[in-house]
Amino acid sequence: MADMAKRVADFGTTIFSEMNTLAAQYNAVNLGQGKPDFDGPHEVIRAAMEALSNGNFNQYAPGLGLPALREAIVAHESHFYNLNLDPDREVIVTVGATEAVFAAILGLVDPGDEVIVFEPFYDSYVPNILMAGAVPRYCPLRPPTWEFDRDELRRLFNDRTRAIIINTPHNPTGKIYTHDELAFIASLCHEFDVLAITDEVYEHLTFDGLQPTHLLKMDGMFERSVKIGSIGKTFSVTGWKIGWIVGTAPLVAGAQRARQFMSFAVAHPLQVGAAYALKSPSTYYEELISSFELKRNRLVNVLNRVGFKAATPQGGYFVMADFSDIFEGDDVAFAKWLTQEIGVTCIPPTFFYSEANKQIVSKQARFAFCKSDAMLNAAEEKLAYLKHD
Ligand SMILES: Cc1ncc(COP(=O)(O)O)c(C=O)c1O
Repeated sequence: MADMAKRVADFGTTIFSEMNTLAAQYNAVNLGQGKPDFDGPHEVIRAAMEALSNGNFNQYAPGLGLPALREAIVAHESHFYNLNLDPDREVIVTVGATEAVFAAILGLVDPGDEVIVFEPFYDSYVPNILMAGAVPRYCPLRPPTWEFDRDELRRLFNDRTRAIIINTPHNPTGKIYTHDELAFIASLCHEFDVLAITDEVYEHLTFDGLQPTHLLKMDGMFERSVKIGSIGKTFSVTGWKIGWIVGTAPLVAGAQRARQFMSFAVAHPLQVGAAYALKSPSTYYEELISSFELKRNRLVNVLNRVGFKAATPQGGYFVMADFSDIFEGDDVAFAKWLTQEIGVTCIPPTFFYSEANKQIVSKQARFAFCKSDAMLNAAEEKLAYLKHD
């Protein structure tokens, strides 16, 4: 019969596609999806263009990733986290962090195992866990501080728990897990012999001078963790989809076993560009943070001025804002109404919670601030109409 597999039948299409279509239909300022409307650094793009045109990088890349990129990732981890990695055994290049997460789950988690995720979760985690035949268990983060309840988390751990996924800085709340929170999570991982998959695609977007703790550096955690990174957010080239996994050799090998039969090799010329990007001087990272801090402050101020209750995120690309003083309905109705009536698009965050916990964010909206001044100006102008109602 011409029908899809049961494995995917319940997934539906992502909320991003839906909101992008609606935004285009109403010509709205789209602060929905987390993608910059400006380009990445010129010289980084030139390095990829040079690789495309010099004839040396247009065939399959090595399966583990271009050696120069693996070396650059090792140098990056050493420079920023004082982690010393073996580029041949403890690093693989992936098709973005998205493939990295899936490869880590497929390569490290068995059918029937349980995987703990914090809600709100990045939207691919749960389908990835389900496609691996595993069972997601949910630990909610709650506004306005987005902390988790330690007893609630502890109760999720049991002898079927295989892994916990942590995303810090966190999409969509901007939360950066504190040292204390990570130490608590690490203690549970030790007690229940659980692996940690830490998704750190926003590692260079940390604001107000915060210096996050690195899970892989905590006592005994290197042996039971993999860290996932991506070039997309740090260098404003989300379309490149170049990511990586680093960690202890046996775990990286597991992820690579799965990954080799997913994409086998990653876009070769873009790996040259990514290797170049990772050699950027520290001023690049400092300027990135200052420019994103300005964007963040601006959007938070605008939202609060027009009636939202928006918390200031510690990192990442997004602001979460409570709209209960503006609109009566739920987050999905609000996101549609804001697009159609005001001309600004956001994402309803209930899609990032399990059924049982959706009410936690039914009065919240996610706005992306990784946007040009022109786009933030346009959003500000349109949002000002909320004040006139
Ligand atoms: C938390 C998180 N993980 C992974 C990704 C995907 O990264 P990539 O584009 O490198 O696949 C994103 C992108 O929005 C993200 O927010």
